[in-house]
Amino acid sequence: MIAIDDLQPEDAPALAPLLLAAFGPAEGPEIVVLTDALMSDPSAEPRHALAARDGGQLVGMVILSHARLEGAGAPATASLLAPLAVTPERHAQGIGSRLVRAGLQRLTDAGVPLVFTFGDPAYYGRFGFEPAMPRGLQAPHPIQDEHRDAWVVHALAPDALASAAGKLACAESIRDPRYWRV
Ligand SMILES: CC(C)(COP(=O)(O)OP(=O)(O)OC[C@H]1O[C@@H](n2cnc3c(N)ncnc32)[C@H](O)[C@@H]1OP(=O)(O)O)[C@@H](O)C(=O)NCCC(=O)NCCS
Repeated sequence: MIAIDDLQPEDAPALAPLLLAAFGPAEGPEIVVLTDALMSDPSAEPRHALAARDGGQLVGMVILSHARLEGAGAPATASLLAPLAVTPERHAQGIGSRLVRAGLQRLTDAGVPLVFTFGDPAYYGRFGFEPAMPRGLQAPHPIQDEHRDAWVVHALAPDALASAAGKLACAESIRDPRYWRV
């Protein structure tokens, strides 16, 4: 039975092995560093960091960190969903979906109108995300043309996309261009 709750400081010893297993040896180490930095980054607040547990054991996690859309009008509050990870032996059991949906609910409850992520559009499409570039919403760093559909946005408030414009400014710890390549 999977339970979703807040990621706790006590999860630290289980967090790095989970991220390394989910992202693999090439990408995993930098995601461990990123996650650690995001968890203590004041510019990421308000931050929602959620854990999926099975019998108390950490099997998944997601972070949604503060961001803002800087465009022609007043800056608009937003959130950036990253990273999202589920331990490989528990993939395709709906745990990632539960984490994403719980995160979106937290943002909705907090009145955050827009959430962005950089990931597979086929996966995130099922939660209502759509490509952001066709709406003129830019990522913090330029994204190669062949991956432009991976920059996705989801409106959590009615009409939030109608007035949205500009480029996302994200928390300092996830600003490094290395996190924006594919
Ligand atoms: C992406 C991830 C979090 C999904 O977790 P999960 O618990 O397996 O997801 P769910 O069980 O909710 O959903 C599984 C469905 O998503 C699909 N799916 C999983 N990863 C996908 C991907 N990268 N692209 C497209 N579809 C994907 C599965 O095929 C499955 O489809 P189905 O429902 O039609 O059978 C997990 O695969 C993972 O940790 N991957 C490594 C880290 C990563 O890539 N994180 C996301 C980018 S930050």
